[in-house]
Amino acid sequence: MEKLVITGKTPLKGEVTISGAKNAAVAILPATLLIDGVCTIENLPNISDVKKSCEILEGLGAKITWNTKNEITIDTRNINKTEASEELTSKFRASYYIIGSMLGRTGKISVGMPGGCQLGARPIDQHIKGFEALGAKVEVGQGKISASAEKLVGTSIYMDVVSVGATINVMFAAIGAEGTTVIENAAMEPEIVNVASFLINMGAKIRGAGTKRIEIEGKCPLDEGVIEVFPDRIESGTYIIIGALLGNNLKIKGIIREHIESLLIKLKEIGVHYEIDGDTLTISKCEHIKPTYIKTLAFPGFPTDLQQPITTLLTQANGRSIIEETIYENRFKNTVELNKMGADTKVLSIHKLEVNGPTKLNGMDVTATDLRGGASLLIAALIAEGKTNIDNSEYILRGYGDVINKLKNVGAKIEITE
Ligand code: EPZ
Repeated sequence: MEKLVITGKTPLKGEVTISGAKNAAVAILPATLLIDGVCTIENLPNISDVKKSCEILEGLGAKITWNTKNEITIDTRNINKTEASEELTSKFRASYYIIGSMLGRTGKISVGMPGGCQLGARPIDQHIKGFEALGAKVEVGQGKISASAEKLVGTSIYMDVVSVGATINVMFAAIGAEGTTVIENAAMEPEIVNVASFLINMGAKIRGAGTKRIEIEGKCPLDEGVIEVFPDRIESGTYIIIGALLGNNLKIKGIIREHIESLLIKLKEIGVHYEIDGDTLTISKCEHIKPTYIKTLAFPGFPTDLQQPITTLLTQANGRSIIEETIYENRFKNTVELNKMGADTKVLSIHKLEVNGPTKLNGMDVTATDLRGGASLLIAALIAEGKTNIDNSEYILRGYGDVINKLKNVGAKIEITE
């Protein structure tokens, strides 16, 4: 397993450029299956989940050319398979987008059960509810999901749970349905807007992406085209949190303020100062961080994906903070490793965490348990006294493109070893 080796306490100065959003990229890639043609996708993040998505698409018959490390041209004119590699699809959660897009394209697909970070049960009942409402037959068993439909017919679907993945997946299938589909209680995450914009540019008729109600008119012919993946709001937030702990006029370039408003307001509340000029945020170390209460919510609430990174920031706050994680039931595993480094956190329930500070963190051998938990350990290592080895660091590389070079370029002492 790869290890990140970090020596802490170096002030970080210079400029970090934010990459394309992982959670938009892993949906835009399978969305190309809805188009019988050649598309170009720009600003892809240089992460393993994008590589895995491409491998799955190539396994179905897509032809992919890497124009640069962040841009591909994908030809979906010869999709000749309706089975996606179980070995690959079980490695990450977003593989399930192949179901909605292939249902929308051919009406038939079989994939391995989606994998992904162990953050709780993470069922896919809402995805299945949407597919069945449109007329598909879905079978789950022996580690596989198979879906098929003679014909998909548009209908109204109410999401019992606000789900990013189910909203996107049902939108994909609805594009292949006859008539109009309305998704009620849809998720409003910005990534949904990025994916919908791509499909609309190709000719899809989608209204309301980014709101609770999305209307899709199916069977519209889709043309070839180009899409740019927009900047990653979770990567942005992660580097801003690092800047609040170690920044010396650290510049974070490529942010979209509206996507991280909840974090920015929270940081102001706890005493962190920053300046924003266009798409660049400049931040320096905050000498006195106030404790706070954080409740994670679906967008535009405080993002669950920044819960673990901000936990590390709050280990340096002057007092007791409470974090309520309302999206997942098992997203505090990283605190065991943080406490090994000297943090004083206590899991009060599966949804509530107490963080007492400020505490001195010491370099240590720790293990990443998931992507954002790994990010919280990376942040802790950057502020800890001495050297930290983070095992299972491929979790971190799944979601943070070029993270080693980005941190090295602003002065961090970080290496990767086998
Ligand atoms: C997306 O996951 C993101 N992943 C996650 O980011 C993010 O944490 C999550 O949205 C919430 O914002 C990708 O986009 C690839 P959900 P997704 O469906 O779509 C429950 C990261 O670190 N639920 O919005 O899988 C589910 O259990 C990752 O980048 C059902 O009950 O999340 C969870 O409690 C981690 N039934 C809640 O809804 C369903 O059918 C939100 O899940 C689907 C979900």
